[in-house]
Amino acid sequence: MIRDLLRRELADVEYALRIKHEEIAKLDARRARLIERLRLPIVYYSLTGNVRRFVEKTGRRAYQIPEIVAEPYILVTPTIGFGEIPEPVTEYLREYGGWLRAVAVSGNRNFGPLFGVAGEKIAREYGVPLILRFELAGNDEDVRKFNEEVSRIDEEVTR
Ligand SMILES: Cc1cc2nc3c(=O)[nH]c(=O)nc-3n(C[C@H](O)[C@H](O)[C@H](O)COP(=O)(O)O)c2cc1C
Repeated sequence: MIRDLLRRELADVEYALRIKHEEIAKLDARRARLIERLRLPIVYYSLTGNVRRFVEKTGRRAYQIPEIVAEPYILVTPTIGFGEIPEPVTEYLREYGGWLRAVAVSGNRNFGPLFGVAGEKIAREYGVPLILRFELAGNDEDVRKFNEEVSRIDEEVTR
């Protein structure tokens, strides 16, 4: 008799524990989603795919111009037409430049003094740091540096 009662109580406790575990798993998933939302997204433009490949390697949430983000973001853009900012990027910044927190630029060293100049121009005009100038789709070291810089800005923005 007493054993039956104990068995029933044990079953109740095990059931309650299972419910709690499920709740914790749900809270963990929600926490992960919130942390992901707090990390700054990338907004990028890519004409021939190099910037897109770079952005994919960073593993960050990313939006391709003309997609709109109504939150702070990091811009990644190529330099085109001999030191120029691509026109869609200029237009996007005119509209949403207020959310810009930093810029990274792709280019090609063959352009000598014009290497990545679009990034310099944007940084100057919008008063944000140029956190990285990389060639083509970037290498592992570029991706590491980029993520390191962006993580620092993440902390500043969410503090
Ligand atoms: C017409 C043209 C002009 C370019 N002008 C420059 C330049 O002035 N400075 C530079 O650093 N890179 C220049 N580049 C190189 C691009 O910025 C580089 O290839 C970049 O990775 C392209 O990115 P995307 O493939 O995402 O469009 C130029 C490329 C093209 C095709």
